[in-house]
Amino acid sequence: MKAIGVLTSGGDAPGMNAAIRSVVRSCIYHGVKVYGIYYGYQGLIEGEIKELTIGSVGDIIQKGGTMLYSSRSEEFKTPEGQKKAIEQLKKFEIDGLVVIGGDGSFRGAKKLTEQGFPCIGVPGTIDNDIPGTDFTIGFDTALNTVIQAVDKIRDTATSHERVYAIEVMGRDAGDLALWAGLAGGAESILIPERESSFDEVIEKIKRGHERGKRHSIIMVAEGVGSAVDYADQINEKLDLSTRVTVLGHTQRGGSPTATDRVLASRLGAFAVDLLINGKQGRMVGIENNQLIHHDIIEALEQQHNIDDGLYQLSNQLSI
Ligand code: F6P
Repeated sequence: MKAIGVLTSGGDAPGMNAAIRSVVRSCIYHGVKVYGIYYGYQGLIEGEIKELTIGSVGDIIQKGGTMLYSSRSEEFKTPEGQKKAIEQLKKFEIDGLVVIGGDGSFRGAKKLTEQGFPCIGVPGTIDNDIPGTDFTIGFDTALNTVIQAVDKIRDTATSHERVYAIEVMGRDAGDLALWAGLAGGAESILIPERESSFDEVIEKIKRGHERGKRHSIIMVAEGVGSAVDYADQINEKLDLSTRVTVLGHTQRGGSPTATDRVLASRLGAFAVDLLINGKQGRMVGIENNQLIHHDIIEALEQQHNIDDGLYQLSNQLSI
């Protein structure tokens, strides 16, 4: 392996820069050239490719976003787009690719792998929804961002005796809502992976109110619908003031936590090790704090599951 490319794709996640830094410095450490591919797969198609040096990735470990920028490319989904991408990789004499991103980005890596180009996927998404790894880069930072917001909302909710429906990201995944709900002491957590009874949500708010509780937090994952609609329904059923906060893209930004920086550094270096050792079509991850790798195609076929123990616990503690 003489030259490796690295790109970030899909929704950005805090810690992607730390992962890029790790890939770049590990390549240089092993005497392998490294190229940054800008703007994700679209940039790959268009040849937005530059050689990176040790200095190119200085002073980024603490920064949110991605210095390589990101995109969601429709063109890359087509066979013509993939052909152009492979031509660019050949032109720059790149013989292995590290893709940092979520499931959509992994599907792209899978396409290249199927066409014989060595790729390794590094899971980077705030959603924590990639099967085959306990955690994805960016999840811990986003979780802490949500928790800071929940704590602030709780202050004002208590002052005004209000119910808050807080909507967090997670198109198809409830991890952020589940972990934030547990860490933030939410009364109810609504996630796409579990059916929730709306009557139970109302009952819990009522019970809390009757025993003198001055605030109620309902954590809503974006994948189950709009927090505004849930708040409207709560307003219809209860004579309590209800407000909504949609945290939106604030969850995607900010300086990565130490946990995310360490995870990103470990996974980035591991991806380079695998490519150098002739592995391809793998995704890297962490299970029980050990670095692991899985077949990227098989991993994508698995269903992401939430931690049922955490879900049960959240119910138990919010009686
Ligand atoms: O996949 C990450 C994510 O932040 C999801 O949680 C969210 O549904 C989506 O990206 C938002 O995407 P966009 O940045 O295109 O609005």
